[in-house]
Amino acid sequence: MRSAIPRTGAWCAGLALAATVTVPVAAQDQATYARSLAATCTACHGTDGRSVGGIPPGLAGQNKDYLLQAMKDFKTGKRGATIMHQHAKGYTDEQLELIAGYFASVTPGPAASAPAARGGY
Ligand code: HEC
Repeated sequence: MRSAIPRTGAWCAGLALAATVTVPVAAQDQATYARSLAATCTACHGTDGRSVGGIPPGLAGQNKDYLLQAMKDFKTGKRGATIMHQHAKGYTDEQLELIAGYFASVTPGPAASAPAARGGY
């Protein structure tokens, strides 16, 4: 009886994963989806890909094809990296395309450091 709990938990996790993967993304939700995928990059590459001091390189406004190719090369190991080869493996090529498209669409600019620097809220 005790073992039923972990099994149910695993089933739920599997269902949640399946739902995440199989739910079709409506066209109007694509931008939101791309943005949320890209949000995982902001810890290192800065908000909206505007990195602080350019380390690691900023992604905002870079060429989409360049970004996509870089991510694919990290994923396959063609391009060496300290971190990105691991990170890139977590995404499908379709997700990488959305992420690349998102960052390419962002206007490059200075990194936002604190709310005060952005004029405050
Ligand atoms: C934990 C920190 C970290 C995270 C998170 C991260 N990156 Fe990176 N990124 C790096 C570092 C460091 C480099 C330099 C290459 C290396 O050593 O891995 C880099 C390099 C890159 C480059 C090459 C840039 C160029 O000008 O050639 C691209 C493209 C890139 N990252 C995209 C992304 C994307 C897209 C995400 C989110 C899906 C992401 N990174 C998440 C740290 C990170």
